[in-house]
Amino acid sequence: MSASSGFSILLKAIDMNVGFIGAGNLALYMSQGLVRSGAIRASQIFASSPETKKPTVKDLKELGVRFSPDNKATVEKSKLLILAVKPKIMPYVLDELSTMVNKDHLIMSFAAGVNISSIEKKLPPDARVMRAMTNTCCAVKEGATVYASGKNSETSDGEMIEQIFGRVGTVEEVEEANIDAITGLSGSGPAYAFEAIEALSDGAVKMGLPRGLAMRLGAQSLIGAGRMLLETGKHPGELKDAICSPEGATIYALHHLEKGGFRSLLIDAVEASCVRTRELQLQGSEDTTNVEAIKKSIRDGLHLQEILENNGAFKK
Ligand SMILES: NC(=O)c1ccc[n+]([C@@H]2O[C@H](COP(=O)([O-])OP(=O)(O)OC[C@H]3O[C@@H](n4cnc5c(N)ncnc54)[C@H](OP(=O)(O)O)[C@@H]3O)[C@@H](O)[C@H]2O)c1
Repeated sequence: MSASSGFSILLKAIDMNVGFIGAGNLALYMSQGLVRSGAIRASQIFASSPETKKPTVKDLKELGVRFSPDNKATVEKSKLLILAVKPKIMPYVLDELSTMVNKDHLIMSFAAGVNISSIEKKLPPDARVMRAMTNTCCAVKEGATVYASGKNSETSDGEMIEQIFGRVGTVEEVEEANIDAITGLSGSGPAYAFEAIEALSDGAVKMGLPRGLAMRLGAQSLIGAGRMLLETGKHPGELKDAICSPEGATIYALHHLEKGGFRSLLIDAVEASCVRTRELQLQGSEDTTNVEAIKKSIRDGLHLQEILENNGAFKK
């Protein structure tokens, strides 16, 4: 790609409105990253979900994102539509969207386990669909995003997605078959890291350090290790060996981790998340989901009075 064409794609991405169907954690953290990185202005982001009183909705509004309880308003205002709802809600949302989207929308689903064909089958035949996975570290521009393209998405769609998500971390195209395992690795990954930092700082507190210092140093050790691996391109075993001097403290600690099954536990964790992601595909499939029950629970949860008062329009 020439520098000038890259520049025009960059401008296109910045000029485009982005809509989140679902105003939960993913929508919030991603919006924070996109706004803070300058990839997009908050006023270009639209979001909707039935519940108007959730903390994430409040935080999105505070960021400057335009919120409506009505998905139709988000679809009308946005060219890139990000599906950020739970997998079991997907059949309901896709039914609703199918009457509103057209080939000018790029639909990007982050719903764990829900495959492209089950999304395409519920939308108009020319719908441009992508399936993606990321993580909440988008909020601090350290996300890890991957995407796979549907039957109608174009090369320029992928380039645009790379321009946008490249501002909030890494982004690459992958085979769709890999996305469940990626969910187990980098989708869930920050949760493993947060658990590790908390446990490491517990150890340090036990040995006398104040909690704040322990957490800062634990977090920086993980950040530094990750960056060193990416920048040197070296195998993690080689980098680990450089810390383990003969008879030194670190090799004694690693022996404890080995006895406790540390590496095996991490392998099991990634496998468990991947297997669970595959189960979520069943929840997100029309054939096994009680769409009527979901519709009823959404109707029951709506703040109808508020929606009527606002006429479904966007409120800051
Ligand atoms: N969190 C992560 O780290 C992460 C990372 C990658 C991918 N994902 C995927 O992203 C999706 C969302 O995850 P999340 O963590 O953001 O979940 P979440 O916090 O539960 O957010 C889901 C949002 O969807 C809304 N919603 C429910 N029914 C809706 C409808 N009919 N129309 C529009 N919005 C509706 C919910 O509103 P109510 O609160 O009113 O129900 C809520 O705002 C999931 O499929 C997950 O697999 C999450």
